[in-house]
Amino acid sequence: MVRREEKKLLRVLAGEAVWPPPLWLMRQAGRYLSEYRAVRAQAADFVVLCTSPALASEVTLQPIRRYGFDAAILFSDILMLPWALGQGLAFREGEGPVLPSLMDHGGVSALHLSRLPDAITPILETVRRVREGLTAEGFPATSLIGFAGAPFTVACYMVDGAGVRDFPATRTLAYRDPAAFDALLSLLTEATVTYLAAQIAAGAETVMLFDSWAGILPPAQFRAFVVAPTRRIVAALRELYPDVKVIGFPRLAGASLGLYAAGTAVAAVGVDTATDIAAARQLVGMQVALQGNLDPLALLAGGTALETAAASLLESAQGAPFICNLGHGILPSTPTEHVASLIRQVRAA
Ligand code: CP3
Repeated sequence: MVRREEKKLLRVLAGEAVWPPPLWLMRQAGRYLSEYRAVRAQAADFVVLCTSPALASEVTLQPIRRYGFDAAILFSDILMLPWALGQGLAFREGEGPVLPSLMDHGGVSALHLSRLPDAITPILETVRRVREGLTAEGFPATSLIGFAGAPFTVACYMVDGAGVRDFPATRTLAYRDPAAFDALLSLLTEATVTYLAAQIAAGAETVMLFDSWAGILPPAQFRAFVVAPTRRIVAALRELYPDVKVIGFPRLAGASLGLYAAGTAVAAVGVDTATDIAAARQLVGMQVALQGNLDPLALLAGGTALETAAASLLESAQGAPFICNLGHGILPSTPTEHVASLIRQVRAA
């Protein structure tokens, strides 16, 4: 039995500057792995994959078996929450996610918090199976990360109905009908607390909030739509699970990272590729862990480009709590040997 404190990722989240740092990669389970493509081909579609505990737990464990990462992240998607609330969701080949536009279908009143517990049952079963699998397969030091999208980013897909540049429908709604937008963010905040608390109860040891579009907002809306809901989620989870830490990823938040860290009380901040890690450290202070932020394209390119980028990241991140990761998800055409060589370099740091 490995004690909690022996898990590197959890030690860093508790504020310790562990070196060499723990390492995992966003989208580490995915199309760059042939074993993922093989399982993916067995599921009728992506939603079926996410709601089939046998398949979803299998793909969660694949990158751990291949690389021994310090963390496994639940295989699911941030858009499974709108799906669980009854909005509907499809992933079209080569097109990304498509949701029936919320505002054309009754808005917030068409969503049902009461559906959530039943709808997320298979996802929670995946969490349980992964946690058991990590122990049974000999990875007792690998932490299990649960996750959700942060309310603003999830709202972007729900209102615009797809991943479109700058999310004009969402942003217009926020200005023209602030009451409706507030109601949506409040509902998502409440649903996210329920969803993440259930993941923790099922075995997730930390949870991450993906706010991929946080960086498109002006400062006042960043505070209202990103910081405030995140603070409420962190506070509610802390009431229920005082020891469980939250990792927040306000992508492209740049100069607002300090405000985000202080205003939300997350234990760790995910840093995107465009942000200098030393500058991020200045903004968040020495206590908050940073996670990031290698360029996924450097990993795809490999060779000297990757080595130089990783060496410079490790150098500027050392001396404070740090989790080595990418600044955004791994790209499907990334060669698997590049991942292996990155791991060797980080473990030798
Ligand atoms: O990181 C992991 O390995 C855990 C699983 C995970 C997925 N998506 C699986 C996935 C996580 C944490 C996510 C988060 C997610 N999903 C975000 C936030 C992070 C980010 O990328 O900014 C967002 C915005 C989404 C929404 C989403 N899901 C989009 C836009 C797409 C299509 C683009 C694409 O890469 O295909 C997805 C699909 C998706 N989610 C795939 C995977 C592995 C690919 C689907 C496939 O295999 O066919």
